Amino acid sequence: MNILVTGGAGYIGSHTVLELLTSGHNVVVLDNLCNASAESLKRVEQLTGKAVTFYKADIRDRAALDKVFKSHRIDAVIHFAGLKAVGESVAKPLDYYSVNVGGSVVLAQAMAQAGVTKLIFSSSATVYGEDAPVPYKETMPRGKTSNPYGTSKAMIEQILTDISIADPQWSVVLLRYFNPVGAHPSGQIGEDPQGIPNNLMPFIAQVAVGRRECLSIFGDDYDTEDGTCERDYVHVVDLAKGHVSALQATERSGTHIYNLGTGTGTSVKQMVEAFERVTGVTIPYQIAPRRAGDLPAFWADASKAGKELGWCAELGIEDMMRDTWRWQQNNPTGYSR
Ligand code: NAD
Ligand code: WQD
Repeated sequence: MNILVTGGAGYIGSHTVLELLTSGHNVVVLDNLCNASAESLKRVEQLTGKAVTFYKADIRDRAALDKVFKSHRIDAVIHFAGLKAVGESVAKPLDYYSVNVGGSVVLAQAMAQAGVTKLIFSSSATVYGEDAPVPYKETMPRGKTSNPYGTSKAMIEQILTDISIADPQWSVVLLRYFNPVGAHPSGQIGEDPQGIPNNLMPFIAQVAVGRRECLSIFGDDYDTEDGTCERDYVHVVDLAKGHVSALQATERSGTHIYNLGTGTGTSVKQMVEAFERVTGVTIPYQIAPRRAGDLPAFWADASKAGKELGWCAELGIEDMMRDTWRWQQNNPTGYSR
């Protein structure tokens, strides 16, 4: 298939482009590089020996999108482009609604005009909200989100669902990611956060490589086995393969929702211990106050993706640690934008 990947230069996007290319698909990427480097796509091309057509453009730029759809016979769109920092979304809600919600609307309008009606969207476990029981299942209603980032994802899910109800030609696949971590086993592509990492895994990796002194563990008094929060960490290569598998769901009209997670929770302390065990590097840490908005523990019921897409996560916590460390050691300052 010919696939347009928005946000394809980013962390999950670049790994997905690689898996699409190695599965025989052709890929066009549109990304404004506000949180990525074109170097990621160069490396994907080197690793696969295949070319990627790249457009540097904003997802809200309708003329740029029209040009892409006129220049290529696109069969399906995988839509990653968006802003993703939870704390920043509280400070700059308009940016998040403009890029995430507005950008998705402009994309859907351009698709409709071009007659492209297959869309896979990057949603998040955060749409289950604050009060959902674990494990999260796709049959549960969306819950109360606690920040504009999460609300933007819930809004986009609703908008895309409404489009598929109004026009049965559309097929919308909502992929709800749990906590993506890790890097490609080549050590050539990986996560490259700007500034101080918000997320646990890149923070651990930057402490290990000497860019940060000490990890703060946000709270050890939760009602969990060791008192630290538990999450469902999923290897980014498994996640990327989940998108290739999800293409088959775009053959069926309507909206299809899938959790992409492993089905297992791992605590912050267990993550630190696993990193130390796999790499032999000690991670100095201190216990800090709880972080506002953190939930104690959640993980996926990932059985629907298994049954309907034949997808399940194959890589474990030790693979995530090994691959993160290889990427971080090979690229101590990321892509050095
Ligand atoms: P990322 O920031 O690495 O990738 C997003 C990409 O979108 C970047 O390359 C960025 O340059 C691009 N982009 C941002 N605004 C744009 C705009 N206005 N126009 C064009 N391109 C734009 O993040 P990621 O971790 O790869 O996440 C990809 C998607 O998955 C996002 O939609 C994110 O919300 C979603 N998601 C991520 C996680 C996670 O923990 N990483 C979890 C759940 C969902
Ligand atoms: C994991 C655990 C922290 C950093 C976020 C978004 C979510 C989704 C994925 C997009 C938590 C603890 C972290 C640190 C720590 N993104 N931690 N010290 O919060 O589960 O999910 O990314 O959709 O919407 O909220 O991931 O990696 O930030 O945190 O102790 O320096 O690690 O408290 O328990 P989170 P995370």
